[in-house]
Amino acid sequence: MTTTTSAAPLVETRGLTRRFGARAAIDGVDLRIPSGVAFGLLGPNGAGKTTLIRVLLGLIKPSAGDAWLMGHAMPAEHAAALASVGAVVEEPRFHTHLTGRENLAIVAACISDAAEARIPSVLARVGLAERADERVGTYSLGMRQRLGIARCLLNDPQLLILDEPMNGLDPAGMLEVRDFIRSFVDEGRTVLLSSHLLDEMERTCDMVAIIDRGHLVRQGRLSELRGGENRVIVECSDVARARTVLQSVNGIEHVAGEDSRTLVCTLPDGTSPAQLNRALVTAGIDVSRLERSQASLEERFLDLTTRLQTPEEAIA
Ligand SMILES: Nc1ncnc2c1ncn2[C@@H]1O[C@H](COP(=O)(O)OP(=O)(O)OP(=O)(O)O)[C@@H](O)[C@H]1O
Ligand SMILES: [Mg+2]
Repeated sequence: MTTTTSAAPLVETRGLTRRFGARAAIDGVDLRIPSGVAFGLLGPNGAGKTTLIRVLLGLIKPSAGDAWLMGHAMPAEHAAALASVGAVVEEPRFHTHLTGRENLAIVAACISDAAEARIPSVLARVGLAERADERVGTYSLGMRQRLGIARCLLNDPQLLILDEPMNGLDPAGMLEVRDFIRSFVDEGRTVLLSSHLLDEMERTCDMVAIIDRGHLVRQGRLSELRGGENRVIVECSDVARARTVLQSVNGIEHVAGEDSRTLVCTLPDGTSPAQLNRALVTAGIDVSRLERSQASLEERFLDLTTRLQTPEEAIA
């Protein structure tokens, strides 16, 4: 559909499964992440987001299935796969008695001279240049999150994997992280981030995958996932007759009658709301509202993640 989605994926998994005892934390996951996007893993607590990230990074082994990072098989080719990947999994840890800059220096010394030379620029990039010489013990949670991101920028990664980067941040902190992610993606790089904050993911990501109880229930561009732009809300004088009339217009589906005056329809490609309006007016039905509508990510998310629940769990 787009050039990015048809290119070789930067991250790919097939049937990826990780069990802890009898329970599968992720189960048969087929993930495809193209390059140059912010890709969100969305799922409620315990859905398997962190487990999926840990398996991708080779921190734990899969029970079954395959994974490739940057075209390299994981965990077999982990050194090549991880050379241009930066990751923050759960809360980043530091030497709290050292400064932010000193913490980065320790890591950079283990990577390369180029990484050491990058320290000032990565600190500036995450907005920590001014506070870099203070001890990490005095940093707020948001500053630690940003220092964690700075640390994984030291090897100039093409792919950043961030597990819950917005956790515990106030709105200003979230905005900073979001701006950083967007600027990183604007450079043609890729970010995989996990979160259960739907609004934030909707604002930050180009694509998302919805994970529920270890299953990947849907993935795609946000616009596709929201249910497309082909939904039209029709308010008219006679809903029952409007239904009959619209049935004669090729391919229109009546999604639901919202109330006694409103219908929600899905238009097939190539059919315009004007055609729908014409059919109704010609049949003598007054149309008082005709509006394109898109389901929110939250609506789609709840729709997809409650579908798998048993009746008892849905009530609980
Ligand atoms: N080391 C482990 N041992 C046993 N069970 C585990 C382990 N790690 C994860 N699990 C289980 O796997 C499931 C998925 O956990 P995971 O941490 O991947 O979820 P998550 O989507 O990251 O949740 P959260 O939003 O709370 O971070 C949970 O049922 C969890 O209890
Ligand atoms: Mg998690």
